[in-house]
Amino acid sequence: MKYRQLGDSDLTVSEIALGSWLTYSGGVERQQAEACVHKAFDVGINFIDTANVYGRGAAESFLGEVLRGIDRSSYVLATKVYFPMSETDQGLSAKQIHKQIDASLQRLGTDYVDLYQCHRYDSDTPLEETMTALSEVVQQGKARYIGFSEWKPAKIRAALNLPNVEKFVSSQPQYSMLWRQPEDEVFPLCADHGIGQIVWSPLAQGVLTGKYKPGAAPPANSRAANDKMNGFMRELRSDRVLSAVQNLQPLAERLNISMAQLALAWILRDRRVSAAIVGASRPEQLADNAAASGVDLDETTLREIDMVLAPARPQVVS
Ligand SMILES: NC(=O)c1ccc[n+]([C@@H]2O[C@H](COP(=O)([O-])OP(=O)(O)OC[C@H]3O[C@@H](n4cnc5c(N)ncnc54)[C@H](OP(=O)(O)O)[C@@H]3O)[C@@H](O)[C@H]2O)c1
Repeated sequence: MKYRQLGDSDLTVSEIALGSWLTYSGGVERQQAEACVHKAFDVGINFIDTANVYGRGAAESFLGEVLRGIDRSSYVLATKVYFPMSETDQGLSAKQIHKQIDASLQRLGTDYVDLYQCHRYDSDTPLEETMTALSEVVQQGKARYIGFSEWKPAKIRAALNLPNVEKFVSSQPQYSMLWRQPEDEVFPLCADHGIGQIVWSPLAQGVLTGKYKPGAAPPANSRAANDKMNGFMRELRSDRVLSAVQNLQPLAERLNISMAQLALAWILRDRRVSAAIVGASRPEQLADNAAASGVDLDETTLREIDMVLAPARPQVVS
């Protein structure tokens, strides 16, 4: 496993990180989920991403239990705030940020997170209030750094222009071979300001592993076949996308790597990315995914990937 610096922070994160969205909020059976977290450490992953909203606290509680007893300084822990935790608890007001960080820390069984991220932008709260509250959380030692997920460039700029508040060090966009939109504005803006990308759904929820065949039922035990986890995959599983993805197989074979490794190495080709946050429902997937770290893709392969996926890319939405 290779490691990168997270933006301008002093956090060193594994190029492959472990996420906990649908998988460890109830989608994957408990024992299997625990095995995945342990496997992540075995393959050199030191960076774990979660959010208060994943299972309304369930993913954080699960991680708190599994991570108990593991040296806290040996891994980088990130969580998020914004989405509803109850009828009344949501958003990025000062009151919510202070309430939610304490609740997250309690569930996670730690007195600090390394990274506290705004899960989305809150247009109902003045930006200054949000940034001041986040800065207080850092000053109180409850978070070491702050980040955001899926903020529009204008909002990122506005936050960077506020005086006397903490600066963001991370951006968490959706990014994969099938979803390149953040390259246009978010990547360059962030690079200019010491903000690293930690990207989500880098395997397009498993679609880029090639296991879904056009016109065929999804394999048993896959996310697409699981009604607890397949609610966000419709566009990704169109025959147009799946057919194009199948055409990546010969490229992976030529390089003697798996399709998952091809997809993740493609992401890591860009040094503006600090880490690709994968999900995993089985420990073997983490061994497969971790081996993408250190794979360099040559220019010819990158051009071929562009050509092969051209028919799939433009219409794909999350
Ligand atoms: N900031 C945000 O708004 C946001 C949004 C979404 C996600 N995230 C973060 O990003 C993380 C990753 O998202 P994601 O789970 O969608 O990522 P992903 O890595 O694109 O998809 C993960 C899923 O693909 C399958 N898979 C993974 N590796 C595989 C392999 N080597 N071979 C075959 N199948 C494999 C597994 O599902 P099956 O085995 O069940 O098929 C796994 O659960 C989340 O956990 C979360 O932390 C953030």
